[in-house]
Amino acid sequence: MGENLLELAGVTFGFEEDAPPIVEHFDLSVQRGGFVALLGPSGCGKSTLLNMAAGLLSPWEGEVRYGGAKLAGLNRQVGYMTQGDTLLPWTTVARNIMLPLELRGTPKAERGPKLEQALALVNLGEARDKYPSELSGGMKRRALLARSLIYDPPMLLMDEPFGALDAQLREVMHKELLATVGRLGTSVLFVTHDISESILLADRILVLGGRPLRCLEEITPPWSKPRDLDAVRGSAAYLALEIRLRGLLREANDLTLAQSPKSPGKAA
Ligand SMILES: Nc1ncnc2c1ncn2[C@@H]1O[C@H](COP(=O)(O)OP(=O)(O)OP(=O)(O)O)[C@@H](O)[C@H]1O
Ligand SMILES: [Mg+2]
Repeated sequence: MGENLLELAGVTFGFEEDAPPIVEHFDLSVQRGGFVALLGPSGCGKSTLLNMAAGLLSPWEGEVRYGGAKLAGLNRQVGYMTQGDTLLPWTTVARNIMLPLELRGTPKAERGPKLEQALALVNLGEARDKYPSELSGGMKRRALLARSLIYDPPMLLMDEPFGALDAQLREVMHKELLATVGRLGTSVLFVTHDISESILLADRILVLGGRPLRCLEEITPPWSKPRDLDAVRGSAAYLALEIRLRGLLREANDLTLAQSPKSPGKAA
């Protein structure tokens, strides 16, 4: 077991100071080389946790630690693939993917080879001179993945990265992602609503729900590495986990609805 690369230790956070916090005294850790999935209903606070890990939001209480040190300001050690499409429309795929290198002041001579590597990784070489509006949904997600991987960050934060893709393309992306992070040793914190995706990809699945947010259950799928996703999907253990997680997610959903301030459930 390796040490923790990322820790949220007793964090409390809300968007309004006079309202109850969304997250209260919450703990979360990702160990080096680990793949942790956060599974939970819409609005429960998953993106909020990622934003704290990225240093975009600061907790009211508690702290975020990265590599053992308390995070102050932006976490420049992580690649963040956010929920939306954040490609810049006015420039090409290649420039978009190289953006983090420009922002970090990577010498020009080093940028080219890194771009080539990133393009090859996601199989987008032929689209390098296209503009985002000319890409399919899947190509956009690949470009975003390449952009978050281009400076070899030790950790990736991924917020429902493949939610908008069709099932077949999602399958391809799952295989590519596992192969890539396996090769680079990247640690991943991955948000999804999709039960099957969490079972296929993660070493640890945290089922989250409630207000304030709690971890209702932690599940460790038994697959060995590297995993054969087709074999996993066909196994009895996969089916059993899927049924169990379906029940847990329903519970998490009910809990979140019942405890959220504006929900009709609360008024009763
Ligand atoms: N900028 C903001 N200002 C005020 N409230 C916010 C803001 N961002 C999120 N919230 C609220 O905080 C709660 C948690 O939001 P968050 O985006 O973390 O949920 P989520 O679990 O990522 O949901 P989804 O699965 O729909 O993306 C929600 O109730 C949301 O309405
Ligand atoms: Mg979200």
